[in-house]
Amino acid sequence: MKRKHSLAMAALMGLALTVSACGSDDGGDSAGDGGSSQSSSADGKIGVILPDTESSVRWESADRPALEAAFDEAGVEYDIQNAEGDAERMTQIADTMIGNGVTVLAIVNLDSESGAAIQEKASSQGVATIDYDRLTLGGSAEYYVSFDNTVVGELQGQGLADCLGDKPANIVFLNGSPTDNNATLFAEGAHSVLDGIDSYKNVGEQAVPDWDNEEAATIFQQLYTAADGKVDGVLAANDGLAGAAIGILEGNGQAGKVPVTGQDATVEGLQNVLAGTQCMTVYKSAKQEAAALAEAAIALVNGEEAETTGTTTDAEGGRDVPSILLEPQSITKDNVGDVIDDGGQKVEDVCTGKFEKLCADAGIS
Ligand code: BGC
Repeated sequence: MKRKHSLAMAALMGLALTVSACGSDDGGDSAGDGGSSQSSSADGKIGVILPDTESSVRWESADRPALEAAFDEAGVEYDIQNAEGDAERMTQIADTMIGNGVTVLAIVNLDSESGAAIQEKASSQGVATIDYDRLTLGGSAEYYVSFDNTVVGELQGQGLADCLGDKPANIVFLNGSPTDNNATLFAEGAHSVLDGIDSYKNVGEQAVPDWDNEEAATIFQQLYTAADGKVDGVLAANDGLAGAAIGILEGNGQAGKVPVTGQDATVEGLQNVLAGTQCMTVYKSAKQEAAALAEAAIALVNGEEAETTGTTTDAEGGRDVPSILLEPQSITKDNVGDVIDDGGQKVEDVCTGKFEKLCADAGIS
């Protein structure tokens, strides 16, 4: 396991304190729907383009509010938009943001090609760029802010292995979008654990275009049928894909019997973990990731260097991208409460209806 980032993480948290201490204006401005204008401690404006609202609920439900809070706390002007899964739309939003004078542009690319083109244009207009969460291969971002995505995959692989034990097991892999470099890293990490366990057999593997949850159900059904229903475990790359697989397993009377992994610690993911239909999820604190983005962006605005945890190799672009990579956390039934304690989800959202009792049983109140 690569655990090289925890020291730097501590440094980052220290930095977060410094920046928030500098935030000068807490005059109660509200961000409205995606923008904020207020006097800033950093003399610039940060644009962020989120990818979509479908591939994971995280972007609007976790990232947006965390980014707003981080930028508000730092007292910097910002504009956060969502490309709604449309690369063309992301390009247009980027053009508009550049026209409106952003000094730093952060994107979660929808694919590396369109991301790299956006970054090249920004750079030609003197706008610095940051890759938020997903690395743009062949891009030109000044910084890459994310979690250690190989470790995310390793946690998923280990989580599935812990749920399966070492008896013989047929595993289906439901990977993320082929256009998302993170999906490649998640799959690599998971394989690095599971391929080493001799009693496991890979009986089907497919990437889900655009992380589309509906298509994931169709793909999983096909893989399940092709394996004659002899599936003992599912490595699903995020909670949305996990939900799709669980739906199919339910239809076959197998939900809760076949462990399924996930990622994002969404409300649905945590509820599935509590219900026992999902074996684990991976928590990546949006608060930490947003704070790291704010730090890096403000450093760029001020012409300073951001504190990094290392570099990430972009093999396509042939460069090492200065990176701030955070540590993901594995979540099982035993520590769902950690996500809630950390503010990653609200107890009233997770512990509703039939989950009220499951929460109480798990000591969450
Ligand atoms: C993110 C995941 C997310 C997925 C789908 C990945 O790049 O790292 O957190 O679930 O995209 O949006």
